Amino acid sequence: MKKILITGGAGFIGANFIYYMQDRHPDYRLICVDSLTYAGNMSTLEKAMAKDNFVFYRTDICDRQAIYEIFEKEQPDIVVNFAAESHVDRSIENPEVFLDTNIKGTMVMMDAARKYGVERYHQVSTDEVYGDLPLDRPDLFFTEETPITTSSPYSSSKAAADLLVQAYHRTYGLPVTISRCSNNYGPYQFPEKLIPLMIANALAEKPLPVYGEGLNVRDWLYVEDHCKAIDMIIHDGVVGEVYNIGGHNEMKNIDIVKIICKALGKSEDLITYVTDRKGHDMRYAIDPEKIHRELGWLPDTMFADGIQKTIQWYLDNRPWWEQIISGEYMDYYEKMYGDR
Ligand code: NAD
Ligand code: TYD
Repeated sequence: MKKILITGGAGFIGANFIYYMQDRHPDYRLICVDSLTYAGNMSTLEKAMAKDNFVFYRTDICDRQAIYEIFEKEQPDIVVNFAAESHVDRSIENPEVFLDTNIKGTMVMMDAARKYGVERYHQVSTDEVYGDLPLDRPDLFFTEETPITTSSPYSSSKAAADLLVQAYHRTYGLPVTISRCSNNYGPYQFPEKLIPLMIANALAEKPLPVYGEGLNVRDWLYVEDHCKAIDMIIHDGVVGEVYNIGGHNEMKNIDIVKIICKALGKSEDLITYVTDRKGHDMRYAIDPEKIHRELGWLPDTMFADGIQKTIQWYLDNRPWWEQIISGEYMDYYEKMYGDR
C-alpha cells in the first residue's frame, strides 16, 4: 500500500493517471491536489471521488503553507507533479502564470518533498524541452541526451523546472525522476488542444483552424500509454534519471484533421488555414529506446485505434465538453481565433 500525491489531477493526463492507478493499484491511497484553473474540471473526477482511498484538495501548488499542511497530514510516499499551465498558445499571450506554476510551483512541491521526506518525486515533463527537429531529417529523434533548447514560454518554463529538479537531486539528494513525453490524446483533453478542438468544431460544422500549412509534425501517444510509463518509472525507474516516452507515431497536423473529418463524416471544406503560431516548432519525435530497454515499456494502443476510441469518447460524453466550451472558453476562442 502506497500513498501517492498527484498534482494537476483534475486536468487531462492527471485525471487519466488517477483512473489508471485506481484500476492497477486499488489499495493505494491517492491524494489529488489541484487548484482548478480553467483547465481543471471536477466532473472529470466524479468516478474517482466515489472511492474511499481517494482525497481531493483544491490547492495551488505555489501556496507553500497549504502544500506543507497537506504533506504534514497525508505523509505521501510518492509525488507525481502533473500540475502545470500546459497550452503553448496561452503561454505566448501571457507567460507569467507559466513561470509561476511551472517553475515556482515545482520548487514548492520539491521543498515539501524534502521537508517531509518521500521515496520518490516524479516530474512530468515534455518533449518540448528539446526544441524541434527539421522536417527534412527524418533520421533525427530526441534522446535523453539531446540538449535542452526551447522555443515557447511554455517549453522554457518546463525546461527550467526540469533543471531545478536535477539541481534538487544533486544538491539535496532528493530522489527524483523526470519523464518527457510526446503529445498525448484521449479522453478528458481540454478542447483548446488540436484533437479535441477539431472534433468539437467539426461536430458543430465550424471552421477547422489549421496553423500555417498544417505541415508541422507531432508524435502522438494515447494517454493511457503515458500513464503506464509513469507507473513503471515511479516503481522501477532509477533515481536521478530522465525517461523519454513516445510511440513512434509521427503525423502531420493536416493529416490528423483529415482523419477526424473522415471519421465524423464531415467535409474537408471546413479546413481553414490560419496565421501560423509564433515560433511554431516544426517536428517532435521521441526515441523511446531507453524506457523500453530498462523498464520494458511499450505502447499498447496504435494510433488508428486510439483516435477512433477518442472520437467515440467525445461523441459519448458531449455534456463534459459542451459545458466547457460554453463558458469563458468562448472568450478565449474569440480572442485567439477571431481575426486570425
Ligand atoms: P492540463 O492543462 O489539462 O491540466 C493541468 C491541471 O493542472 C489542471 O487540472 C489545472 O487545474 C492544474 N493546475 C494548473 N495550475 C495549477 C496550480 N498552480 N496549482 C495546482 N493545480 C494547477 O494539462 P495536461 O495536458 O494534463 O498536462 C499535464 C502535465 O503533462 C503537464 O505538466 C504538461 O506539461 C505535461 N505534458 C503534457 C502533454 C500533453 O500532450 N498534454 C505531453 C507531455 C507532457
Ligand atoms: P497543441 O495541441 O496545442 O499541442 P502542442 O503545441 O503542445 O504540440 O497543437 C498541436 C499541433 O497542432 C501544433 O503544431 C499546433 C497545431 N494546431 C493547429 O494547427 N490549430 C489549432 O487550433 C491548434 C490548437 C493547434
